[in-house]
Amino acid sequence: MSLVRIVRLLAAAASAGLVAIAHADATLEPPVSLDVPYVPTPNEVVAGMLRLADVKQGDVVYDLGCGDGRIVIAAAQRATNVRAVGVDIDPRRIAEATANARRAGVAERTRFIRQDLFDTDLREASVVTLYLLPSLNVKLRPKLLEELKPGTRIVSHGFDMGDWKPARVARAGNSDIYLWIVPERGRR
Ligand SMILES: C[S@@+](CC[C@H](N)C(=O)[O-])C[C@H]1O[C@@H](n2cnc3c(N)ncnc32)[C@H](O)[C@@H]1O
Repeated sequence: MSLVRIVRLLAAAASAGLVAIAHADATLEPPVSLDVPYVPTPNEVVAGMLRLADVKQGDVVYDLGCGDGRIVIAAAQRATNVRAVGVDIDPRRIAEATANARRAGVAERTRFIRQDLFDTDLREASVVTLYLLPSLNVKLRPKLLEELKPGTRIVSHGFDMGDWKPARVARAGNSDIYLWIVPERGRR
């Protein structure tokens, strides 16, 4: 099921009062307002995204809305001096991702930050990965173009970025994946 369809179903369930029942039990977790629900990227799509971005030695990879950390962990596993950072607003995801990175043996080269992705400082990134929604990609675009260095690669699972034409579109698993290269400042 596509992420857009899941969001529509959640919205319908919320208006029918079904989601409120689930929230009533979540006493251990602080409430969070998610711009997009948690749906993990399948592993073959993760591999395709990192290949499309050509993640290699020296890269600093940011996954905005990192879920269980799978993209961050896979990026750190690609080469010994790749650093990777995951940002998620949901503390449950940050706890899972941190534990997963420790289990995978890449805790030293990964970092997970509980934060709204719109508040994250992106200046050190050389690769940014996204699995959000079309509207969020478009909303994020000015921030990406403001903060990212020329040449930074942006890869998105499933969704394009409005009228910013991607440099490449590829297929991974059952998904389209998109690549953009951040242009020189004068050409943004
Ligand atoms: C579709 S999942 C993608 C997870 C992971 N990147 C992957 O591809 O497997 C989107 C994630 O974004 C997180 N999220 C939603 N709104 C957010 C926000 N404003 N700031 C940071 N994270 C957010 C959700 O908690 C969820 O884990």
